Amino acid sequence: MEDKSALKQLIDRDEFNFNEFIDEKTEGLVFDKRTLDNIYTLFKQFNIKYVDYPISSGKESLVFKVEGEKKGVVMKIFKTSTLRFQHINDYIDGDPRFAKQRKSRGSLIFVWARKEYANLLECRKFDIRTPEPMAVEKNIILMSYIGDRRSPAKKLKDVNEQDMQLYFNASMNEYRKMVEKAKIIHADFSEYNVLCYRKKSYIIDMGQAVSYKHPKAKDFLVRDMNNMKAFAKRNGLEFNLDEPVFPGEIDE
Ligand SMILES: Nc1ncnc2c1ncn2[C@@H]1O[C@H](COP(=O)(O)OP(=O)(O)O)[C@@H](O)[C@H]1O
Ligand SMILES: [Mg+2]
Repeated sequence: MEDKSALKQLIDRDEFNFNEFIDEKTEGLVFDKRTLDNIYTLFKQFNIKYVDYPISSGKESLVFKVEGEKKGVVMKIFKTSTLRFQHINDYIDGDPRFAKQRKSRGSLIFVWARKEYANLLECRKFDIRTPEPMAVEKNIILMSYIGDRRSPAKKLKDVNEQDMQLYFNASMNEYRKMVEKAKIIHADFSEYNVLCYRKKSYIIDMGQAVSYKHPKAKDFLVRDMNNMKAFAKRNGLEFNLDEPVFPGEIDE
């Protein structure tokens, strides 16, 4: 009840224009009072006018296109209500970058959001194609939108047959750079987490991505490659690319 009135207050003040796409169920799940306050802070800070439309509503996150000053922005909100503590913790524990951030059940989701943000930043540093991270605030990330005015970019699994090999090769190329240069292992790499736009592939969804120093990093790398090999096989694509070299095997 309280959630609704908080949202309504914002709408009434004309400062936060959700449109009709967001149903009551979703509202109730995601936009508790605190999340609303955080959204509000970010919107002020980045001069975001309104929520354009929902792009995706997954088990653990909601993704919206929001209208920024010049270009499209994506807002990803991690749901606090469906947090799988152990699952998430497996990808945080063991990553030296996050080892010191002690996590209670309540704050783990914030670490998760910061981890995705940090992974995106690190990738951008090495010119790896991912969305450009803009901000992280508690369980919310803002990043650049990939797509055109009408619709977000397609996932690799949905591109036309004639473009698939090109996008597949491009994704493998970005993945290889991610491993070898940024030394990050995605750990959920598949045709679902690659966006294809104007002949370029962008890797997304990096909350679970770990430093190569994570004790299971090598296993994650093998699993990622197996996902892509299986996808290539199902779609009659060629897989004759150099596989990424695991960083632990060259230095140290
Ligand atoms: N920067 C972005 N630009 C356009 N669409 C995006 C962007 N980030 C995510 N999406 C869309 O939202 C979906 C869910 O995002 P993702 O980060 O994969 O979260 P999850 O799979 O954990 O719910 C993606 O499959 C994609 O369709
Ligand atoms: Mg995803």
